[in-house]
Amino acid sequence: MLSVSDLHGYYGASHVLHGVALEARAGELVALFGRNGAGKTTTLASLAGVVTAPRGSVCVDGEELASLPSYERLRRGLSLVPSGARVFANLSVEENLGVVPPRAVDNGAAWTVERVYHLFPKLGRLRRSAAGNLSGGERQMLAVGRGLMANPKVLLLDEPSEGLAPVVVQAIGGLLRQLKETGLTMVLAEQNHRFALRHADRAFLIEKGSVQHERRRTSSRAARRCSATSGSEPVPGRDGSGTAPAQGGAHGDE
Ligand SMILES: Nc1ncnc2c1ncn2[C@@H]1O[C@H](COP(=O)(O)OP(=O)(O)OP(=O)(O)O)[C@@H](O)[C@H]1O
Ligand SMILES: [Mg+2]
Repeated sequence: MLSVSDLHGYYGASHVLHGVALEARAGELVALFGRNGAGKTTTLASLAGVVTAPRGSVCVDGEELASLPSYERLRRGLSLVPSGARVFANLSVEENLGVVPPRAVDNGAAWTVERVYHLFPKLGRLRRSAAGNLSGGERQMLAVGRGLMANPKVLLLDEPSEGLAPVVVQAIGGLLRQLKETGLTMVLAEQNHRFALRHADRAFLIEKGSVQHERRRTSSRAARRCSATSGSEPVPGRDGSGTAPAQGGAHGDE
C-alpha cells in the first residue's frame, strides 16, 4: 500500500531527514515514534508533500508520488491530519468537513458527513457550532473527520494524542481501533510510545531523521514496482532476510 524509501528532508541548509524508509501494508496501522525533534512531523509532511523532499520514493499502491504536489497526493489517497488538531476556527464543524476535495471512490466506500457523525456522534450534535468553540478532544476528532472526508487510502496522523487528557487519549485509541476495522491504512506519528505501540501493528523508531528499528520488514510487490521506476533499491531487513528482529527501543520498553 505505502512504501517509503530513501526520503531526505531539509529546512534551508539543515538536513533533517536522512533516508527514511518505512512501509505500511493495506489495513495496517503503523507507528512512527521517536523523541522531540526526531523527524516524525517532517516525515509525515514530506509524505503528504507539504514539505518538499528533494530525494526519496513515496509509493502508494505501486504509484510513485514523490514528484507530485500535495493536492495531487491528496487526490491519490495520502491524507494528512496535522498535529495540534488544527481546524478552521471560524467555520462550523460541518463547514470544516466540507473543505476537503474527496478522492473518487466506489459508492459505499466514500466518507460522508453523516458517516463521520456516526463515528463521532458528538460532532453531529455540534455540527452548527464554530470549530473554535470545541474542546481540544473535539477539535482532534474534527481534524480526523476532515482527513477522512478525502477518502484516503492512507491516513497520516501526526500526534493525535498530543496535549489531551488521558481519558480523551483513550477515546482517540478507541477511534483508531474503529478506523482499523474499516480496513483503513494508517501511519501514526507519536512521541507517546506507549500509546503508539498499544495500537500499532508494527512500529518504526525514528532518531535524528532516520529509522533505526522496525518491528518487521517485508518487501511488497508494490515496493518492488516503485523501486523499479524510481531507481532506488528496497531497503533490506536488518538481518538481510526481510524480517528484522525486534529491538529494545522499538517495543521492548513499553
Ligand atoms: N520549520 C522548520 N524550520 C527549521 N527547522 C525545523 C522546522 N521544523 C522542524 N525543524 C527541525 O527539524 C527536525 C525534525 O523536526 P520534527 O518537527 O520533524 O520532529 P518531531 O519528531 O515531529 O518532533 P516533536 O515530537 O517535537 O513533534 C528538528 O531538528 C527540528 O528542529
Ligand atoms: Mg512533530
